[in-house]
Amino acid sequence: MTAKAEQYRELAAQLRSALAGERDLIANAANFASMIYHSLPELNWAGFYFRQGDVLVLGPFQGRLACTRIALGRGVCGTAAVAARTVVVENVHEFPGHIACDGASNSEIVVPLLQNGQVVGVLDLDSPKFARFDAEDRAWLELLVREFIERTDMDTLLRD
Ligand code: SME
Repeated sequence: MTAKAEQYRELAAQLRSALAGERDLIANAANFASMIYHSLPELNWAGFYFRQGDVLVLGPFQGRLACTRIALGRGVCGTAAVAARTVVVENVHEFPGHIACDGASNSEIVVPLLQNGQVVGVLDLDSPKFARFDAEDRAWLELLVREFIERTDMDTLLRD
């Protein structure tokens, strides 16, 4: 097993145990962001944006101060939310419309949170390392996000 797979297997186990017996959205999202940030190497930001109408609003995260509102379609987060697909960016400085929250970020992955086929938010990870995220990260993070959604009451979000 690769070192990366080992890190994610451990993170998946931590996530299942942290979410056992708790379904609150803010509590689970906060612990998930913390576990990602402290378990995976070479990150400078990890956290959530939740959709309210046509805007993504900042949720629980770890890292430096971030912008609070991102219009759907704007930046990497808004692009992933509109496409309802994961977006992996090797060099954020070359991504048209990238929103620079922390100047240290050089690469990024954004995984949409899908509930009943609807985008209810995104999980965003930033790295100071170029091309930090690959297909393996994407597959694992998509799996973790699915497990997070299954184990959490997402209906408390005001979406429209
Ligand atoms: N870079 C993101 C904005 C959010 S911060 O990175 C935390 C974007 O372009 O959507």
